[in-house]
Amino acid sequence: MPKLASYNGKVDSIENIKVSPMSRAFLFSDSVYEVISFYKNEFIDFDRHLDRLKHSLNETKISCSIDHCEIEIKKLLNESEFENGYIYYQVSRGVDSIRSHFFDESDCERFGFVEEFSFFNQPPLRVMLVDDIRWQRCDIKSTSLLGNVLQMNDAKSMDCNEILMHKNGKLTEGGASNIFFVKDKTILTPELSSNILPGITRQQVIKIIKDKKLDFQEGSYDVNDLKEATSIWFTSTTKGIVGTEKIVNLETKLNPECELLETCKDAFVTKYFS
Ligand code: PDD
Repeated sequence: MPKLASYNGKVDSIENIKVSPMSRAFLFSDSVYEVISFYKNEFIDFDRHLDRLKHSLNETKISCSIDHCEIEIKKLLNESEFENGYIYYQVSRGVDSIRSHFFDESDCERFGFVEEFSFFNQPPLRVMLVDDIRWQRCDIKSTSLLGNVLQMNDAKSMDCNEILMHKNGKLTEGGASNIFFVKDKTILTPELSSNILPGITRQQVIKIIKDKKLDFQEGSYDVNDLKEATSIWFTSTTKGIVGTEKIVNLETKLNPECELLETCKDAFVTKYFS
């Protein structure tokens, strides 16, 4: 069955959607996006995703009504037959007939699609530690993901399915996720900065950790801290919380049975998926 999609507010089968090759999304990756999950036909943390989209639009000076985005995303879910899945939704600066680096005020271009997805039983990840080669505004959820894509495919050639990035030794995040790790029974996560995406799942997990009064710190951590970690977690809209089987290029003391991970996972599933 073809995917259901939306282009500038019109919902249609993805095969019927035609996009101009002069779209700045196509030419410059001049676009921002969100991935929003839904479970039993209800969005999970919709308002936070919308706030983050607003932040990305403001920071990139793409002028687009957030109310239109909200209506279009909700319409896609309403017209979808799927009970559980996610919506991908991107906003670009629109079509530019002369491919100029200088942009004019133009009509934004919105595109989204729905994907069916099951959020459960994701196995622990095999991870490669890599240099963070991305730009300096990773707090913006931009579709320019070449840095992530290149490093993730290097990792794939080493039989890995996620990367853990560091900038000059300082840990940042995963290729498509945020990271947490456990050291000396304390849960640690890199603090927010322009080098990481403020993940919605990261926020959800922090709330769970605080509600359960577990030992927790946000800060600046480096690769040496990771060597002492007994458990490393990755969080994202499509992963939820998932542990790590091994890091292929780093000696660690990973213990596959981490009670803290199970506690947080259980609370996460109970809160969002029941
Ligand atoms: N990615 N960091 C990066 C670089 C990401 O791409 C993502 C999510 C996250 C986690 O954010 P959240 O918890 O809000 O999903 C962190 C999405 C899922 C993607 O690109 O498919």
